Amino acid sequence: MSVSRRAVLAGGVLAGTAAAVGGGLIYTQQRDDTTEQPEFYGVHQAGIATPAQARVEVVALDLTTGKPGEVREVFQQWTAMVSGMFTQTADADLFATPARLTATWGIGPGFLPALGMKAMQPDGLADLPAFSKDQLEKRWTGGEVFLQVGADDAVIAATAARHLVAAAADVTTVRWWQRGFSSPTRRNLMGQVDGTANLAAADPLFDEVVWSADTQPEWLRGGSYVAVRRIRMDLDAWNAQSVETQEAVIGRFKDNGAPLNGTEETDPVDLSAQTADRELVIPSTSHVRLSHPDNNRGARIQRRSFSYDDGADGAGLLFMAWQADPRTGFIPIQARLDVGDSLNAFTVAQGSALFACLPGCQPGGYVGETVFEA
Ligand code: HEM
Repeated sequence: MSVSRRAVLAGGVLAGTAAAVGGGLIYTQQRDDTTEQPEFYGVHQAGIATPAQARVEVVALDLTTGKPGEVREVFQQWTAMVSGMFTQTADADLFATPARLTATWGIGPGFLPALGMKAMQPDGLADLPAFSKDQLEKRWTGGEVFLQVGADDAVIAATAARHLVAAAADVTTVRWWQRGFSSPTRRNLMGQVDGTANLAAADPLFDEVVWSADTQPEWLRGGSYVAVRRIRMDLDAWNAQSVETQEAVIGRFKDNGAPLNGTEETDPVDLSAQTADRELVIPSTSHVRLSHPDNNRGARIQRRSFSYDDGADGAGLLFMAWQADPRTGFIPIQARLDVGDSLNAFTVAQGSALFACLPGCQPGGYVGETVFEA
C-alpha cells in the first residue's frame, strides 16, 4: 500500500487548520483526503486518532465460549488478517485498493467475567448509568466484544467486517451491527458542522484525553474507552425550525460553525459573552454551553461520530466518544446534557454501549496480548 510522498502531500496530509488563540492552539480537524494507509502496528490501535473514514461498520459480539484460549485465537487471527490487509482471503484484490482501512477492537463489561478473569476488571469498565431521556432498545445496546471497521470505500469496509465477524463465529454471536458514514463537509444530518471542538491528534492534550494511562490497569495502558450511542434524530421536527432557532439550540452558526459570539469556526467559545440586553449570547440550554469542559469540571471527550440513515426506519448519529476514562469523560458530560440540553427535543438515544479498546501491538504480537499474556 505504498503511496508516494508527493501524492500524500498533494492529498493534504496536513488536514486541519491551526490558529493561535490566547497562547494556546485551537485546531480544527478535517476529514483527511489522503489515501495513506494508517499503520496497523504501534502503541495505539489505528482507527481512533485516524481521521474519520467515509464509512464505518461497528459490531458488538457476545461470547459463546468461556475459554480464554479460544478468544485469544480470534484476536490473533484478526491481527494477522488486518495487518496482512486480508491478503489471505479470497478478496485480496479488493483490499489492494487504498481505502485507509482500519479495524479496531476492544472488550465490554461482561468480557473478563465471562472468561473467568474478573480480577482484571477496571472500575471504569461497567455498563453506562441510566440517563433519564434514553429510550434504549436491546438490539442496539451492550456487547462483550467491540469491532470497528473503517474505510473510505463502503464495499471494502463491509467486506472486511464480514471476514472478521466470520473469523470469530465459532466463539461469538453478533449482538448488534451498525453502519455509519461521514461527509467531507464534516456536517451531520442536522446540517451542522460537527467536530469543531475536537482536539487534533498533534495537540498535547490529545494523549491525556484519549489514551488510558496509569489510572488504568497495565493491560489497558495505551488503549482507550469508547462510548457508543445510537442517537436517532427527529429530522422532520428539526427541519421545521428556523435557522436562528437551530443555531440557538447548538450555540453555533449553521453556515460556518462559528460560535454565536464569533465569526470564524475556530473562534473560541465565550460562555460569558452577553448581548446589549444582558442576555447570554450562547444560550443557557444550548448544546455547546452544556457540553463545554468549563461546565463539566474540565471533562473532555474526543468525538469520532458517523451519521446513519435507515431510510423509513429513521436516521441520526452513531455517536462515538473516546476517552482515557469514561467516569471523567462521557458520563459526566452526558449527565449534564440529559438534564438541560435543548437538543434533547430533537434527539433520542436508542442504543448505548461502553467498551475498553485494547492497546496496539508490535510485529510478532497481537492486539489483546496485554490481556491474555498478563
Ligand atoms: C445527535 C446528537 C448530537 C449532535 C447532533 C451534536 C452536535 C454537536 C455540534 C454541532 C457541536 C458543535 C461543533 C463541535 O464542536 O463539534 C457539538 C459539540 C459538542 N458536543 Fe455534541 N452533538 C450530539 C450529541 C452529543 C453527545 C451525546 C455528547 C456527549 C455526551 C456531545 C458532546 C459534545 C461536546 C463535548 C462538544 C464540544 C463542546 C465544546 O467544547 O465546545 N454531543 N455537538
